[in-house]
Amino acid sequence: MDNFSYCSPTKYVFGRGAENHVAQELASIGATRVMIVYGGGSVVRSGLLDRVKVQLDAANLFHTELGGVEPNPTDPKVREGIALCRETGIDTILAVGGGSVIDTAKAIAAGVPYQGDFWDFWAGKETIREALPVGVVLTIPAAGSEGSGNSVITLLDGMHKISLRTDFWLRPKFALLNPELTFTLPAEQTAAGIADMMAHIFERYFSPTQNVEVTDRISEGLLTAIMTDAVKVMADPRDYEARANIMWSGTLAHNGLCGCGRKEDWVSHFMEHEISAVYGVTHGAGLAVILPAFMTYMANHRPEKGAQLARRVFGVSENDDRLAALEGIGRLKAFFASIGLPLTFGELGIDRPNIELLVRKLHENKGELIGGYMTLGPTETEEIYRLAL
Ligand code: NZQ
Ligand code: ZN
Repeated sequence: MDNFSYCSPTKYVFGRGAENHVAQELASIGATRVMIVYGGGSVVRSGLLDRVKVQLDAANLFHTELGGVEPNPTDPKVREGIALCRETGIDTILAVGGGSVIDTAKAIAAGVPYQGDFWDFWAGKETIREALPVGVVLTIPAAGSEGSGNSVITLLDGMHKISLRTDFWLRPKFALLNPELTFTLPAEQTAAGIADMMAHIFERYFSPTQNVEVTDRISEGLLTAIMTDAVKVMADPRDYEARANIMWSGTLAHNGLCGCGRKEDWVSHFMEHEISAVYGVTHGAGLAVILPAFMTYMANHRPEKGAQLARRVFGVSENDDRLAALEGIGRLKAFFASIGLPLTFGELGIDRPNIELLVRKLHENKGELIGGYMTLGPTETEEIYRLAL
């Protein structure tokens, strides 16, 4: 096991009615002037936005709002939010929504106190030294942004989708998690969220670090729980207990717990981010296509971790590592297909992907060589994209 430091300071309030703590939690972090950030309208239709505003009014908290954040969020909305915060003297951001809304809220939070262009942080030119506090009311378990220190934004000029990772500054101060708020999710968003949270575990599980049994076992337990409850939630979207297990798994999958003591990988995410930036697909659906392709490449070149996954999580009994890993991938694909996820570019709605462009942008944005489990250059990543055809 490698040395590590782990600080996951977000306060989680979980369960029915969790969103009713919003005014109290905002007050506890010293909020006086709040900007509410939300997406394309699901929180308006469900009445959640109004319920949040009523609570802020009752607590005499000034608030303004920024709606219209789109999935795979882009820089213009961040700039609009930064300007609005400055005009109205906002000291706290409240994200009501999913990963796209939370990531936009985080980017605004980093940009407001900074004199230069907020993209400097995403471009790696500057390090965040100050940010407004962010609180979250989560409506979709998927990206795990409610507990992560990351924010993924696309710069429209050149379509650069970049994930900024911070240890501290971009971690929300609190996250209110009510599984009932996820009852209204369309089936394809529920399924995509499940693929995304599983991917967050796989990215840490495919690690070259040896002897991280405790982190491996936590990861395997989470994966098993997710797949068990995924089936229930797809069959009955209003199954509270299943929704609750999925929601908490999504947070634990990405708040750093599954990475403790080891080097992480992140190739599948890097490769998917290029697909969702160029083709606008749902992140989790893109991952369902890339993950089996990535794992197939690994089964053929470095099969031991895939074999362990296959045996411990998918019940494969094959002795040969490569064959075991391949059988595990078959079972993962069958699971994805059973919850309606795509498995190929074609099923994702991209009949002729421009693989040359994806590979070029991938290495432009992420470096010539990528990956923790194996180091991959353009020849290898092209092969993985082709395995997803
Ligand atoms: O925009 P609205 O109308 O709210 O609709 C959203 C959106 O269309 C809808 N939705 C959310 N909650 C709902 C609901 N519809 C009905 N009922 C509800 N309760 O779902 C759609 C997707 O929302 P989005 O926020 O885009 O989903 P997700 O949480 O999957 O976030 C995806 C984004 O997060 C990034 C992805 O790359 C992508 O841009 N990621 C962020 C990470 C992080 N910050 O740590 C890590 C992830 O790996 C990921 O890359
Ligand atoms: Zn993800």
